[in-house]
Amino acid sequence: MGIKRSGIKKKTTKNTAETVREGVKLASMLRGGDIVLLSGDLGAGKTHFTQGILNGLGSDEYAVSPTFTIVNEHRSCRIPLIHIDVYRLRDAGELYDTGIDEYIGDDVVTVIEWADKFPELADLPGRKFYVEITRRDDIDPERREIRTKYPDDVFAKREAE
Ligand SMILES: Nc1ncnc2c1ncn2[C@@H]1O[C@H](COP(=O)(O)OP(=O)(O)OP(=O)(O)O)[C@@H](O)[C@H]1O
Ligand SMILES: [Mg+2]
Repeated sequence: MGIKRSGIKKKTTKNTAETVREGVKLASMLRGGDIVLLSGDLGAGKTHFTQGILNGLGSDEYAVSPTFTIVNEHRSCRIPLIHIDVYRLRDAGELYDTGIDEYIGDDVVTVIEWADKFPELADLPGRKFYVEITRRDDIDPERREIRTKYPDDVFAKREAE
């Protein structure tokens, strides 16, 4: 009590499977309308983390970066997952041209790779989880740091457990 709470937790993963598992864990906290804003360099592990979310939501489908298609829809989960990759989009106009507003809604979970390219994504309606994955090649080629900023209600619940 009285301690300032940042809402941020940091995890280290030592291999790909551990990053997938972190995605599975996040999925257990998600409800319809939530948005996961993923950032991190090329090959950081954003798609593997998304794979974990997809599996955690009960789908055995494969997650692939929708680098060219921009949007992949997974409907075989307990909550449908909309997987978006904004890497190739140049400006907010192109972002809204994708129809992103129409995909996002109370009945789906949305995961957006390269979300830090567009600060305006923070204005989308819905609870937001900010996940930043950093390569730690300086320690090991398979080492990653995953920093997650949770919405206030989720963080408070996690702290209480
Ligand atoms: N700890 C780790 N967590 C996740 N991926 C890892 C880890 N260690 C090694 N890797 C490798 O890093 C790569 C991560 O690829 P992934 O497609 O998930 O990244 P990405 O961030 O989605 O890339 P892109 O920006 O191209 O979409 C894979 O080849 C994976 O095997
Ligand atoms: Mg990817």
